[in-house]
Amino acid sequence: MKREQWGSRAGFILAAVGSAIGLGNIWRFPYMAYENGGGAFFIPYLFAMLTAGIPFMIMEFSLGHKLRGAAPRAFSKLGVKYEWLGWFQVFIAAVIAVYYVAVIGWAISYLGFSFSQSWGSDTNAYFFSEYLKLGENSPSKLGDLQFHIAIPMAIAWAVTFAAIFTGVKGGIERANKIMMPLLFVMVIALIARVIFLPGAVDGINYLFQPDFSKIMDAKVWSAAYGQIFFTLSVGFAIMVAYSSYLPEKSDINNNAFMTVLINCGFSITAGVLIFGVLGYMAQEQAKPLTEVVSAGVGLAFVTIPAAINLLPAPYILGPLFFLALVVAGLSSHISILEAVTSAIIDKLHWSRKKAASVVCGVGFVVSMAFATNGGLLLLDLVDYFINNIALLSSCLVELVIIAWLLRVSDIRDYVNERSEITIGKWFEVCIRYLSPLMLAVILGTNLLNTAS
Ligand code: PHE
Ligand code: NA
Repeated sequence: MKREQWGSRAGFILAAVGSAIGLGNIWRFPYMAYENGGGAFFIPYLFAMLTAGIPFMIMEFSLGHKLRGAAPRAFSKLGVKYEWLGWFQVFIAAVIAVYYVAVIGWAISYLGFSFSQSWGSDTNAYFFSEYLKLGENSPSKLGDLQFHIAIPMAIAWAVTFAAIFTGVKGGIERANKIMMPLLFVMVIALIARVIFLPGAVDGINYLFQPDFSKIMDAKVWSAAYGQIFFTLSVGFAIMVAYSSYLPEKSDINNNAFMTVLINCGFSITAGVLIFGVLGYMAQEQAKPLTEVVSAGVGLAFVTIPAAINLLPAPYILGPLFFLALVVAGLSSHISILEAVTSAIIDKLHWSRKKAASVVCGVGFVVSMAFATNGGLLLLDLVDYFINNIALLSSCLVELVIIAWLLRVSDIRDYVNERSEITIGKWFEVCIRYLSPLMLAVILGTNLLNTAS
């Protein structure tokens, strides 16, 4: 059977960008930057992007393109004994898929709430009473399923399933061609309004104000590398699967640069938006900015709703923000599930329709663990493990296998032959020495921190 193909170059780039731009760009990046030295975080971040992100993206695109398979098949073509690495990555992708969808589900709920700000004035109490019903007086148990969480998650699964079931060009590519332009327009519209609010510019300046004392802190570097791999969706079998549908004549280097630069540019834009909003909130509440910022889940579902309460026309800006979050999340979720589905199609020779149905069906059932009362606690745990350990080790093993057992110069020749951009010797240095070294140090530090 002939392998499916993207309909156009723009279609592929939008799909890759759709995978890369996700919840991580909107709620993870701004806070990471803020917590890890503000403007000074950009130094490790850009360093990681240039020396690890771009080379990794080129490498994964070239693997998919050359070996024409999802990760397990691609790695098995390098040597049968490496097939397990592909499955390990598919497994990580599957774990991410089941918890990521929980956050998309919350975003869908909040999209609904945002039309009338039905979260009320105490957004913290609202979030935790809705999603963590474990108060002392609560009769419910840890394992009880919450339908108000399960139903929006089912909606997210339905969208993902429809895209994957329909196929690469008619489903995934088409979904991204609608979602990505929509996302860009929404974010630009939000920024255009927010930037003129009093205090917004102070918030933005705060984000970019460098704290150089943090640059020598190993934690900051670890955060930057972790964020780069997560944000670019590399190391989880995803970009290998997507690039396996590239036509033979494709400019890999160019595609990789575009994907990375659009994603990282979007992160910085999202940072401007979030900190603009926070700056305005600080001004309205006459508090220092440090008292209004918060982390991860709390940022998107506690702080932002509270800020929306204060915005002019909240019934427009609120839905715009949460719709952006939903769209960003769904396009990534589609890519994670495609990585799993395509691996199964390759291995078991199932039809796409059958594979998509089984993968999404099982995924849906497993993800219901996150729709229980204990869901939020479980999510924190899984998220920590994925970001600090699973992801980095998967990337490290991939680098070691590829870089040390294969000739990296072959990869470089392969991509340069097909590109108008020639990448130099630095690519080999990054893949063979610099990135594995950095990853090993960071992973070691994280393991020690987890153990202690
Ligand atoms: N890159 C996406 C983000 O930044 C998320 C993602 C992570 C997608 C892992 C696929 C795999 O949110
Ligand atoms: Na991203």
